[in-house]
Amino acid sequence: MTDSRLAVIVLAAGAGTRMRSRTAKVLHPIAGVPMIGHVLQTAQELGAAHVVAVLRHERDAVAAAVAEYAPEALVADQDEVPGTGRAAEAGLAALPADFDGDVVVVSGDVPLLDAGTLGELLTAHRAASAAATLLSAIVDDPAGYGRIVRDGQGRLSRIVEQKDATDAERAIAEINSGTYVFAAAALRQQLPRLAADNAQGERYLTDVVGLLGAAGSAIAAVPVADAWRIEGVNDRVQLSRMAARLNAIIVHRHQMNGVTVVDPATTWIEQNVSIGEDAVIWPNTRLAGATTIDRGAVIGPDTTLVDCEVGEDATVKRADATLALIGPRATVGPFAYLRPGTELGADGKIGTYVETKNAKIGEGSKVPHLSYIGDTTIGEHTNIGAGAITANYDDVHKHPTTIGSHVHSGSHTVFVAPVTLGDGAKTGAGAVVRKDVPAGALAMSVAPQRNIEGWVEKNRAGTESARVAAAAEEGTGPAGGRP
Ligand code: UD1
Ligand code: CA
Repeated sequence: MTDSRLAVIVLAAGAGTRMRSRTAKVLHPIAGVPMIGHVLQTAQELGAAHVVAVLRHERDAVAAAVAEYAPEALVADQDEVPGTGRAAEAGLAALPADFDGDVVVVSGDVPLLDAGTLGELLTAHRAASAAATLLSAIVDDPAGYGRIVRDGQGRLSRIVEQKDATDAERAIAEINSGTYVFAAAALRQQLPRLAADNAQGERYLTDVVGLLGAAGSAIAAVPVADAWRIEGVNDRVQLSRMAARLNAIIVHRHQMNGVTVVDPATTWIEQNVSIGEDAVIWPNTRLAGATTIDRGAVIGPDTTLVDCEVGEDATVKRADATLALIGPRATVGPFAYLRPGTELGADGKIGTYVETKNAKIGEGSKVPHLSYIGDTTIGEHTNIGAGAITANYDDVHKHPTTIGSHVHSGSHTVFVAPVTLGDGAKTGAGAVVRKDVPAGALAMSVAPQRNIEGWVEKNRAGTESARVAAAAEEGTGPAGGRP
């Protein structure tokens, strides 16, 4: 439902210097989504008819994120005049000139503010027909925030920034969250009046509140119940704290949906991951991107899945996988590396120290040990012996390997691509397969073994090997004789 009388302005033009980063602050992700993405999603949930993001620092990169997370949002460019007031002015100018509804102003660096909290603020604002209503919070450590100054009757009178505050004002525990609702007309009237006569030489949006109060307009500060929701991210300590909070919320949601998360503190699940009932997630596991896990699957410990699909009752242990499909009841790991384009069929196996890339491994087929399988298609119920390597790259091009169903390759086979093995084919141990193998054929490429009797005693005389070999021939050696 769209509220035609509602606009949201997202302030995101600041440099974010305290992050000490090449990346714009609001692009730092939590739960896989840049902070400004979370804020834009909330703005859209609120049903605002207009969403405007105000940008300047790293403008193009941030604008790309805006286009991704809120395609309908407008971008307004702040000029070189600094301050949140100037930013709000730029945002307001992007709205239709005759817009006279309510303007919610939020910061791009407050990622956990939710639509429910914003909706309550808006309801209070409209019920009071206020000119400005802001979200405040009572916190243990107000350092760095603007403080809420109330009069003798407890009514909001103005906001003072930390850097401009007296010692008495710094002792105030009620802080400005940086989230406001303004009547558009009141905002339009006061913004041009902002001065920059403060410690930072900036035009503060916070001063609009004081100006409105002095003019006799209705203003109010509403404390939020959960202070952590309005915490801003100015440095990487706060970034990790907010990331952990959001992760706890996401993990809790999955637990309530019937997922066993053994250790929430070391399980990181991004926003868009879906997990079926009775799945079990062991510690040190990261589930990222658009990963989906079907019911009953067991993931981890020590596993990272990015954009993967895991089928029902599959097991993925100590694995790192990106853009891989893992079929129902299949098993992966321990110690497996699944690169993009890996598709493991139902009941299949990718085992220990196995790397796969662009590899379709059919139903019931297994690559259990020490292998590299790339650019390969394998049929059903095939077993690839230990140490198999698809030599898919000739320094210029990548070539495909095609292996049929019910194929058994001997240990340490090298498939020199392009090469095809028909159904039911076999390879001998150590085979280097350079030519296609017809269905049902056995491919051998290793020369027949020759044993040269007495070679060690003759060529390595005096060594311990020669001594035990001689003893073995006499039947007096440690191993009791030669085979
Ligand atoms: C601001 C508030 C402070 C409040 C705190 C809550 C002001 C003057 N102060 O302080 O009262 O307690 O938020 O987190 O508003 N921005 C622009 N253009 C600018 C400057 C900032 O768009 O010229 C954006 C930033 O990108 C950021 C937001 O506005 O998203 C807040 O700016 P920031 O510098 O972080 O303000 P604080 O010092 O945190
Ligand atoms: Ca801030």
